Amino acid sequence: MEDTTSDRVVHPLPQEGMSFDTIKQTLDPLVMPEPHASFTRAFRGPKDVQEVAKYAFTQFMSDNGFFSLYAPYMKTIEQQVIAMGVSLLHPDETSTGNFTSGGTESNFSAIHAARNWGKVHRPGAKRPNIVAPHTIHPSFMKGARYLDMDVIVTELDANGLGVAENIAAAINEDTVMVAASAPSWAFARIDPIEEIAAVATDAGVWMHVDGCIGTYISPFLEKLGHKLKPWDFRVPGVMSISGDLHKFGYSMKPASTIYWRSEELQQYHYVSIDDPYLGPYKMAGLSGSRSAGSIFSAWAVMNYLGEEGYLRLTRRLLEIKDRFTRGINVIEGLKMWEVDVMPLHFHSEKAATSSVYQGLTDRGWAALGLVNPEAITICADPSLSDADVDLFLADLKAATEAAIAAGDSAAKGEIRYG
Ligand SMILES: Cc1ncc(COP(=O)(O)O)c(C=O)c1O
Repeated sequence: MEDTTSDRVVHPLPQEGMSFDTIKQTLDPLVMPEPHASFTRAFRGPKDVQEVAKYAFTQFMSDNGFFSLYAPYMKTIEQQVIAMGVSLLHPDETSTGNFTSGGTESNFSAIHAARNWGKVHRPGAKRPNIVAPHTIHPSFMKGARYLDMDVIVTELDANGLGVAENIAAAINEDTVMVAASAPSWAFARIDPIEEIAAVATDAGVWMHVDGCIGTYISPFLEKLGHKLKPWDFRVPGVMSISGDLHKFGYSMKPASTIYWRSEELQQYHYVSIDDPYLGPYKMAGLSGSRSAGSIFSAWAVMNYLGEEGYLRLTRRLLEIKDRFTRGINVIEGLKMWEVDVMPLHFHSEKAATSSVYQGLTDRGWAALGLVNPEAITICADPSLSDADVDLFLADLKAATEAAIAAGDSAAKGEIRYG
């Protein structure tokens, strides 16, 4: 295969088609081994859950999600996914949602709806903006750019949390949306949503919670007795919440949800076109044609697990978190961060974190991290066995010791979030 690091690849369509065997021989070596690829394949359930997700996905992968608002068999399944998901969020009577391709599209949908809502409720806004703590996910900047909006980011407190007063001070006449995270990827902490939503309500702007990570895990953490700050529709003023089924919902990618406090708010999401040739054109979200596999996969996993299954996997995830935490904190110079939910992050105090990161890469791990402050991210999920965790810890110990020994001459990796 050619060097895919170059910007431009010249690779004409072959004159004659390749055999299936050649296709397999070419692609099979690209499949990264387990468990080294686990963090980039996250988030997954254990093997049996993966089997269910894959079965439902492949059964329906050629069906077109284009028809999800219309074809009864598909509409029912999508609506049941939405109903099961929203039931976790202490909904109002008419709270509802839509199925999307991922956190980026879910957050985009909220921004788009808020902008449309702002045209009615914030008529003074000339160039609409979003106000959010600094930890807000880059999908907000991306969505805002698509929609020609601005994002005003506000300073955090010493614990990496959004500060309601800073948000209040940043809101101006162009603000249509306040957004905060439950939790953020960067620090895995839940912003003080109650205080922030109160500020948004006082200012008369849309309040969105990015629950991409939290929606399908925090309700179960709470049921297991963990005290988390309230962040869902229990909190007055919260108008929309995103939640990724392909994270702690354990469904096949791409699968996410955007939830609306009411059907009335959901109307700001839809774009209905009356095409002169095709007639009415209205989709569940941004995409037109898409595989229906992920809708069915999500339904299958949610029903396979049920509340008992999600609680069981959450308990297992806590065990895995504990194993990583104990194992990492005893490695010289490494320090785990305090997190409310997931993912897990740690940094190195004796060697550069980027050198430890490079050492993991050299040992075959597809590692993720943060650049400021430098940290390595562990996308722990219940697909990991104790042996997988121990193998990672052994390699991490070796990488850290080597980086300390090499001192300033240790190679530094380019830490990447994605
Ligand atoms: C808090 C948060 N929001 C949004 C996203 C974007 O999700 P996706 O990559 O599914 O588009 C992520 C992804 O990690 C995230 O952590």
